[in-house]
Amino acid sequence: MPAPVFLCRSEDLREGGLAVPFDVVHAGARWRAFAVRFEGRAQAYLNRCTHIPMELDWQPNQVFDDSGQWLLCATHGAAYAPDTGACVGGPCRGGLVKIALCEARGVVHWHTSDDLYPVES
Ligand code: FES
Repeated sequence: MPAPVFLCRSEDLREGGLAVPFDVVHAGARWRAFAVRFEGRAQAYLNRCTHIPMELDWQPNQVFDDSGQWLLCATHGAAYAPDTGACVGGPCRGGLVKIALCEARGVVHWHTSDDLYPVES
Protein backbone atom coordinates (compact mmCIF):
# COMPACT_ATOMS: atom_id res chain seq x y z
CA MET A 1 0.00 0.00 0.00
CA PRO A 2 1.59 3.34 -1.02
CA ALA A 3 2.33 5.56 1.92
CA PRO A 4 3.01 9.29 1.85
CA VAL A 5 6.42 10.40 3.10
CA PHE A 6 7.14 14.04 3.89
CA LEU A 7 9.41 15.61 1.28
CA CYS A 8 9.36 19.40 1.73
CA ARG A 9 7.21 22.46 2.06
CA SER A 10 5.59 23.73 -1.13
CA GLU A 11 7.52 26.99 -0.91
CA ASP A 12 10.79 25.03 -1.08
CA LEU A 13 10.02 24.15 -4.70
CA ARG A 14 10.39 27.23 -6.88
CA GLU A 15 9.50 27.28 -10.54
CA GLY A 16 12.61 26.29 -12.51
CA GLY A 17 14.72 26.65 -9.35
CA LEU A 18 16.99 24.38 -7.39
CA ALA A 19 15.87 20.83 -6.77
CA VAL A 20 15.09 19.53 -3.31
CA PRO A 21 17.05 16.31 -2.77
CA PHE A 22 15.88 13.28 -0.83
CA ASP A 23 16.97 9.67 -0.46
CA VAL A 24 15.07 6.53 -1.38
CA VAL A 25 15.66 2.81 -1.65
CA HIS A 26 14.95 1.53 -5.17
CA ALA A 27 15.68 -1.96 -6.47
CA GLY A 28 17.39 -2.73 -3.18
CA ALA A 29 19.88 0.14 -3.39
CA ARG A 30 19.98 3.59 -1.88
CA TRP A 31 19.59 6.41 -4.41
CA ARG A 32 19.38 10.14 -4.37
CA ALA A 33 16.16 11.55 -5.72
CA PHE A 34 15.03 15.10 -6.35
CA ALA A 35 11.91 17.18 -6.60
CA VAL A 36 11.41 20.29 -8.74
CA ARG A 37 8.57 22.56 -9.70
CA PHE A 38 7.69 22.94 -13.37
CA GLU A 39 4.68 24.75 -14.81
CA GLY A 40 3.32 25.01 -11.30
CA ARG A 41 3.42 21.33 -10.49
CA ALA A 42 5.79 19.46 -8.22
CA GLN A 43 7.61 16.57 -9.91
CA ALA A 44 10.12 14.08 -8.56
CA TYR A 45 12.54 11.61 -10.08
CA LEU A 46 15.31 9.28 -9.13
CA ASN A 47 18.52 11.25 -9.60
CA ARG A 48 19.91 8.70 -12.02
CA CYS A 49 20.70 9.40 -15.64
CA THR A 50 19.62 6.67 -18.04
CA HIS A 51 22.82 6.94 -20.09
CA ILE A 52 25.15 5.97 -17.25
CA PRO A 53 23.68 5.74 -13.74
CA MET A 54 25.09 9.05 -12.53
CA GLU A 55 23.43 11.96 -10.79
CA LEU A 56 22.29 14.77 -13.08
CA ASP A 57 23.43 17.80 -11.07
CA TRP A 58 26.05 20.06 -12.60
CA GLN A 59 26.02 22.09 -9.40
CA PRO A 60 24.43 20.83 -6.18
CA ASN A 61 20.68 20.54 -6.82
CA GLN A 62 20.98 22.34 -10.18
CA VAL A 63 19.16 20.05 -12.59
CA PHE A 64 17.47 22.55 -14.91
CA ASP A 65 19.24 23.89 -17.97
CA ASP A 66 19.67 27.64 -18.38
CA SER A 67 16.25 27.96 -20.01
CA GLY A 68 14.47 26.25 -17.10
CA GLN A 69 12.66 24.09 -19.66
CA TRP A 70 14.64 20.86 -19.47
CA LEU A 71 16.30 18.68 -16.89
CA LEU A 72 19.89 18.29 -18.00
CA CYS A 73 22.50 15.70 -17.10
CA ALA A 74 25.81 17.44 -16.53
CA THR A 75 27.95 14.53 -17.64
CA HIS A 76 27.08 14.13 -21.33
CA GLY A 77 24.10 16.43 -21.83
CA ALA A 78 21.11 14.11 -21.81
CA ALA A 79 17.93 16.19 -21.61
CA TYR A 80 14.67 15.13 -19.99
CA ALA A 81 11.20 16.65 -19.91
CA PRO A 82 10.54 18.05 -16.41
CA ASP A 83 6.87 17.05 -16.42
CA THR A 84 7.27 13.42 -17.51
CA GLY A 85 10.97 12.55 -17.22
CA ALA A 86 10.96 11.44 -20.87
CA CYS A 87 14.21 11.62 -22.79
CA VAL A 88 14.10 14.55 -25.21
CA GLY A 89 17.69 14.69 -26.42
CA GLY A 90 21.23 13.54 -25.94
CA PRO A 91 22.43 10.04 -25.08
CA CYS A 92 19.67 9.02 -22.65
CA ARG A 93 18.18 5.57 -22.96
CA GLY A 94 14.60 5.99 -21.86
CA GLY A 95 13.16 8.29 -19.25
CA LEU A 96 13.92 9.08 -15.64
CA VAL A 97 12.27 6.99 -12.94
CA LYS A 98 9.31 9.08 -11.80
CA ILE A 99 8.29 9.25 -8.15
CA ALA A 100 4.65 9.98 -7.35
CA LEU A 101 4.01 13.13 -5.33
CA CYS A 102 1.06 14.77 -3.72
CA GLU A 103 0.90 18.40 -2.71
CA ALA A 104 -1.72 19.78 -0.39
CA ARG A 105 -1.98 22.48 2.27
CA GLY A 106 1.52 23.75 1.56
CA VAL A 107 3.26 20.42 1.99
CA VAL A 108 4.70 17.95 -0.55
CA HIS A 109 4.83 14.20 0.13
CA TRP A 110 6.24 11.41 -2.02
CA HIS A 111 4.63 8.00 -2.27
CA THR A 112 6.22 4.65 -1.65
CA SER A 113 5.62 1.68 -3.95
CA ASP A 114 6.58 -1.99 -4.04
CA ASP A 115 10.03 -0.97 -5.25
CA LEU A 116 10.46 2.43 -3.70
CA TYR A 117 10.61 3.14 -0.02
CA PRO A 118 12.28 5.40 2.52
CA VAL A 119 15.80 4.87 3.77
CA GLU A 120 15.75 3.40 7.25
CA SER A 121 17.21 5.86 9.69
S1 FES B 1 25.69 10.13 -17.74
FE1 FES B 1 24.04 11.46 -18.18
S2 FES B 1 24.30 11.93 -20.25
FE2 FES B 1 25.87 10.50 -19.87
